[in-house]
Amino acid sequence: MIPHIFITGATGYVGGDFLHVITAAHPEWKISALVRNSEKAAKLISEYPTIRIVAGDFDSVSLIEEEVKDADIVFQIADCDHTGVASAIAKGATHHTTDRPCWVIHASGTASFIFEDMREKTCGIERTKEYNDWDGLHELLNLPDDACHRDVEKIILAAGQMDPQRIKTAILSPPTVHVHDLSDLFLLLGEAAAAGGGNATWGNEGYYLSEMGSYAWGDVSRAIAQVACEKGYIPTAEVTNLEENEPVGETLGYGSLMWGSNSRGTSIRARKLLGWTPKRPTLLEEIPGIVDGQARALGIAALGGFKSLTSSDALMSVGLGVAL
Ligand SMILES: NC(=O)c1ccc[n+]([C@@H]2O[C@H](COP(=O)([O-])OP(=O)(O)OC[C@H]3O[C@@H](n4cnc5c(N)ncnc54)[C@H](OP(=O)(O)O)[C@@H]3O)[C@@H](O)[C@H]2O)c1
Repeated sequence: MIPHIFITGATGYVGGDFLHVITAAHPEWKISALVRNSEKAAKLISEYPTIRIVAGDFDSVSLIEEEVKDADIVFQIADCDHTGVASAIAKGATHHTTDRPCWVIHASGTASFIFEDMREKTCGIERTKEYNDWDGLHELLNLPDDACHRDVEKIILAAGQMDPQRIKTAILSPPTVHVHDLSDLFLLLGEAAAAGGGNATWGNEGYYLSEMGSYAWGDVSRAIAQVACEKGYIPTAEVTNLEENEPVGETLGYGSLMWGSNSRGTSIRARKLLGWTPKRPTLLEEIPGIVDGQARALGIAALGGFKSLTSSDALMSVGLGVAL
């Protein structure tokens, strides 16, 4: 049977990469994509003529419900904080039967692990707590209610728990993993679903982390400054320490949480069950290319360098270009 796929977020960073991967791997699969912007829809169709556009947004609740009803596999890769779309997907999945279950693969994010820093308003304090998706599964399924993304995860989990024979859920929670490695894992889960579950685990055992190593943002900042300086984009590799909350928060929005909190998780499940092997360059290895890309995007590379910018400006512009 050729599976019918329904995907949200196909015009985004993660979903866009995944759309490329899934259409290349399975050109025969029927793919429908929820797209809210007609210009972006036209671009998608020109790139992927076989996909079907579902024109709508997360307020198109009954439309989403109908699409999920018709789909075999749903990839929710748009907004892991939107309870409305999660509820619409959960409702659509209830139309499925044990003979034709609905496989729901939901992208979340490991900001869910930073709740202690949020509660205690700490920034730059090292915490050793590490989550894992194998023997630490129970903890992942029961994160506290004030954890980021938890409200949406609960909706997805509850859908799977309500009738595990009809609704098969998997939550994939990425950190700053290379987007191609992440797409590989979405694809492995999709292929497992298409095979009736495959080696993947679902529902109360369907929680997957996708880490490919750990790092501290301070090291990333220093590496960016070093590379940007070597390339002549900034005059010095010296890095200034920004004080917590101010001006970090002012300069970088949620900077103190993004760069000063702790999010540690180990991905065992995907490696063990699906043979997922992240093989792309690490974030630190990607920095020279990212710095060049940002310099080009800012029109600075063409000027031969942005000598007027400081290292923290460089961090901000490059930071926006990496997966958060
Ligand atoms: N990027 C990462 O490294 C990372 C890491 C961990 C978790 N995540 C999570 O993964 C998900 C996708 O991230 P991303 O980086 O790909 O985000 P993104 O580039 O901002 O893409 C978001 C996608 O969702 C669509 N979307 C957002 N709101 C919508 C709405 N109301 N109706 C219809 N479509 C809507 C966007 O459509 P438009 O193109 O029309 O805006 C776009 O296709 C997010 O939940 C994010 O938190 C991402």
